[in-house]
Amino acid sequence: HTIHYFEEIDSTQRLAHQLARDGAKDGTIIIAEEQTGGKGRMQRTWYSAKGKGIWMTVIVRPDLLPHQAPQLTLIAAVSIVMAMKSLYTNFTPEIKWPNDILINGKKCVGILTEMLAEMDRVDGLLIGIGINANHEQTDFPDELQEIATSVAIEEKQKVDRAQLVAEILSYLERYTDEYIENGFKSIKQLWVEHSCTIGKRIRASTIREVIEGQAIGITDEGVLEILLDNGQIKKVYSADIEI
Ligand code: BTN
Repeated sequence: HTIHYFEEIDSTQRLAHQLARDGAKDGTIIIAEEQTGGKGRMQRTWYSAKGKGIWMTVIVRPDLLPHQAPQLTLIAAVSIVMAMKSLYTNFTPEIKWPNDILINGKKCVGILTEMLAEMDRVDGLLIGIGINANHEQTDFPDELQEIATSVAIEEKQKVDRAQLVAEILSYLERYTDEYIENGFKSIKQLWVEHSCTIGKRIRASTIREVIEGQAIGITDEGVLEILLDNGQIKKVYSADIEI
């Protein structure tokens, strides 16, 4: 695999777009110590302090239909959770649909997956992963104090970022292969096992509406299903979730 490493970059995600358009191979990785314009979901910025985190984008080019793309985001979340569980012992990471990883209720990881489509096939997926790794609580800006945490804070010791990256990439490769060979079922099961969304009463804000109800599951496509109070089941493709 090709790895592009930067001391500083505006956003690994932006460069990934460019490289993917220029034909970068499946498994190309872009990683930086610092991002000056980190991108979050829903046009938000992503706080990417120097030397503290893991800021990377993985370009994957599986042969998929566009509606299968969300599954890859869920695979990335499962890979990160399994990597953390194999390396750390002082906390249990949980997945908040679609792709935040929380530790003790605070956000530690964000995933932004973007798709390049060509006709009706997926031409490439850009899996952007932001992990608060070695931040101390005082490193976070005021507005993140109550909602953000890091692996080091929760594990109560500094983490080896290179080791965590290597572990994540090895799970990502393993689960992507498993997915391509055997479909989404076993990964979906792992996802549900580690989710803190399923079974809870939630409020989902989509661009169009706010939906309240009980999160009852995800479909085989990775779409969230919410049971409304009137008994109807609603599918949510993209939203912000409050639990
Ligand atoms: C979220 O909003 O939760 C997703 C955050 C994704 C951040 C990562 S950091 C590496 C990659 N490059 C970016 O600019 N964003 C993603």
